[in-house]
Amino acid sequence: MKILEVKDYSELSKVAAEIFAAEIIHNPKIVLGFATGSTPIGMYQELIKKYNSGIISFEECQSINLDEYCGIGKDNKQSYTYFMHEKLFSKIDIKEKNIYIPNGLNENIKEECDRYDKIIKELGKIDIQILGIGNNGHIGFNEPGTKFSGNTTQVKLTANTIEANKRFFDKKEEVPKKAYTMGIKGVMNSKKILLLASGINKSNIVYKMITGDITPTIPASILQLHPNVILVADEEALKKLKSAFPEKIKKINEK
Ligand code: GLP
Repeated sequence: MKILEVKDYSELSKVAAEIFAAEIIHNPKIVLGFATGSTPIGMYQELIKKYNSGIISFEECQSINLDEYCGIGKDNKQSYTYFMHEKLFSKIDIKEKNIYIPNGLNENIKEECDRYDKIIKELGKIDIQILGIGNNGHIGFNEPGTKFSGNTTQVKLTANTIEANKRFFDKKEEVPKKAYTMGIKGVMNSKKILLLASGINKSNIVYKMITGDITPTIPASILQLHPNVILVADEEALKKLKSAFPEKIKKINEK
């Protein structure tokens, strides 16, 4: 894992967008893996700026998202489909037909998971996958305990995740209890992973993910085994790792 330490969220957003944009310029027909959560929002804003300046175009890109809440549709402001359109897709030239996000309204779990896995298979490998990390180490919505070999699945969100995500809803009771998520297998199949972490409340999980055992208890720990992960993290998110293992960061940086 390559660790890029940046000063703050603003720098994180710029650096992540640079890395992402370079991939699009290199391969305009790229398969992009998008994530939600608050962390990538700044990066999406930087990508929009690059698109507006004519530096990048998404016209030929395919895009696939990690996850979606169950029980809410694309017109619901809390859905990840709405989020992606609001924060990015409506402001760039990506074609609607090239956007893939699980359908949270499909109550037939097997049908929806099979449909999404078929899309993942047909798209081929994701060229670059953006990831955030949950406080409990989840990636996408792969909660602690998820099998590393898993495909798309419907998950029951943990109390920790519901608590962390309630800030996007008017009331905690409104946070959906279930979600569809691409499995860890799909994430690990990506050619490159750009993992983003910002703020002091990510410091503990970043430390555990990098220095701890590779265990389903911390789903993100599997990323230690991926050959091409770039962690872009700010000083606060790297605080614990740096104070406990300054040499380790150096070593990782040297990789
Ligand atoms: C949600 C998403 C994850 C995201 C996580 C962290 O649970 N399903 O993909 O990584 O939130 O969000 P944030 O970036 O807001 O901390």
